[in-house]
Amino acid sequence: MTNIAVFASGYGSNLQALIDYQKKHGFGNGKIVLVFSNNADSFALERAKKHEIDAKTFNPQSYGSRKEYDNAIDFMLEQNRIDLIVLAGYMLLLGPTLINKYKNRIINIHPALLPSFKGTRGIKDAFDYGVKVTGVTVHFVDEGLDSGPIILQEAVIVEQGQTIEEIEENIHAAEHKIYPLAVKYFCEGRILLKGRKVFIKK
Ligand code: GRF
Repeated sequence: MTNIAVFASGYGSNLQALIDYQKKHGFGNGKIVLVFSNNADSFALERAKKHEIDAKTFNPQSYGSRKEYDNAIDFMLEQNRIDLIVLAGYMLLLGPTLINKYKNRIINIHPALLPSFKGTRGIKDAFDYGVKVTGVTVHFVDEGLDSGPIILQEAVIVEQGQTIEEIEENIHAAEHKIYPLAVKYFCEGRILLKGRKVFIKK
């Protein structure tokens, strides 16, 4: 059994794609058992409740330090016996304790082709730079910013004259396609890590 926690701060369209995939195809022995947000207003929490998934939120402002906040998260993860943390638009950085404890068990999705355009404005930065090809990246989370081993990537072509909104839409479609696959591969035990290279077992 792979107990999955999805962390989200905002709209939660990636969470929705994961829920839909779980309903339609399943994640093998994996199951989303918890949705967590740092933001009580995150629509992701509503999505979780609608699908009868445990939804939790802790306000970072109610904790004395980031370490205390991370400790509360750690406790919640232990209580729910979480094996895999899926960051889906989670806008807070996890501290080193959590990252080390869940090493190679935290994944993230980034809306650009890493290692280009790291950070919180990946779509806009790539657009402003004038790239002809952008895309999305699913990667393991390490101590750095968007720097962990790459699990899957999908390219998105930037057509001449496209608006950023159009590109955003294509980026999100690509995210919703590959994130569930990465979660499935993880749950099936098919992801092999050699150094910083990821191999997906056939
Ligand atoms: C996605 O673009 C993801 O790549 C980034 O944050 C966004 C979250 O969108 N990390 P949503 O909340 O899943 O709709």
